[in-house]
Amino acid sequence: MDINNLKEEFKRIYKKEGERCFFSPGRVNLIGEHIDYNGGFVFPCALEFGTYGVISKRQDNIVNLASTNFDLRVSFNIDDIVYKEEDDWANYPKGVIKLMKDRGYNVEGMDILISGNIPNGAGLSSSASLEVITGVIVNDLFNNKSIDMIDLVKISQEAENKFVGVNCGIMDQFAVAMGEKDKAIMLNCDTLEYSYAEFDLKEYSLIIMNTNKRRALNESKYNERRAECDEALDIIKKYKKVNYLCDLSIDDYNEIEKYLTADNIKNRAKHAIYENTRVKEAFKALNEGDISRFGNLLTESHESLKNLYEVTGKELDTIVDESLKVDGCIGARMTGAGFGGCAIAIVKTSELENFKSIVARNYEKKIGYKSDFYISKISYGTREI
Ligand code: GLA
Repeated sequence: MDINNLKEEFKRIYKKEGERCFFSPGRVNLIGEHIDYNGGFVFPCALEFGTYGVISKRQDNIVNLASTNFDLRVSFNIDDIVYKEEDDWANYPKGVIKLMKDRGYNVEGMDILISGNIPNGAGLSSSASLEVITGVIVNDLFNNKSIDMIDLVKISQEAENKFVGVNCGIMDQFAVAMGEKDKAIMLNCDTLEYSYAEFDLKEYSLIIMNTNKRRALNESKYNERRAECDEALDIIKKYKKVNYLCDLSIDDYNEIEKYLTADNIKNRAKHAIYENTRVKEAFKALNEGDISRFGNLLTESHESLKNLYEVTGKELDTIVDESLKVDGCIGARMTGAGFGGCAIAIVKTSELENFKSIVARNYEKKIGYKSDFYISKISYGTREI
């Protein structure tokens, strides 16, 4: 929906003009999966699709939330914000508003209309996008932009962890908030130090492929994987002074591998440590313009997520395998939490149409339903528009 239509819709719902408009992107992670909560490097970027928000202040303490994507409308008093399952999508903005209020920031009543064009449940961070847009709105409207963007990132993650109850890491909120046009973000998830790399794939393009197998973090084995990593870390801490699995180099890993006697624990740790090394190599490859090396690292990442971390599943494996069979594709992997959602591929731009039709046909033949393909520019983080 374009912004003028959205403002019209706002007027229809709230019988007044929308005062200001904001946008918050979705994200795709290029490489570094299941690494953020293991204290290593991730390499995501912000997409041009995302969440729009039109708002207008109120003279009371009521927040009204409506969306063009869902029929559900939710209304609450800022002094009484509680999680309610039936509030569904509205729990994300509610959580952020509550946390900001609890931290002593100024929050007042407002009418909000949200409209998103990130495919829901595709693993492109529609929830982080909604959290961060809420934080930026409250910051801009009532706190004179006094809250640092990185603090808003932390508040958004905490809202998801504590209010919604999904134990995610910090990557998604960070990528959504801190995106830059045509740049990928190299983020150290331990220190939150970050830098940008020019996202220039030369004669290649990034294509996002939705398996259309829906993925919901709280239904998945996400928390189980986190617990397995903690278990590995507890064992390793007896032999090495580390805070996170990703503090270990591959040489360190080879030294301690013998202590990880359970296969699942050993494999999870091995993935995290090797994946972290791959992220650093991918950053270097992209900076050096070595796109073929970059593509290979993506494919290695998928293999590791499939065999060691076991978070892919037949839909993601099929779409990646079928992609890699097509001429012009030099790398592919799942992106996000896994178990469904999206994969990405690096494909020669001149071969894109051919690539899409072959992968779409073969995926449907094998899985029984359709996939979707998106080409997105790499764009800016959350902002007023
Ligand atoms: C989800 C989580 C992130 C991250 C990824 C896996 O997207 O929200 O914090 O852990 O999975 O890399």
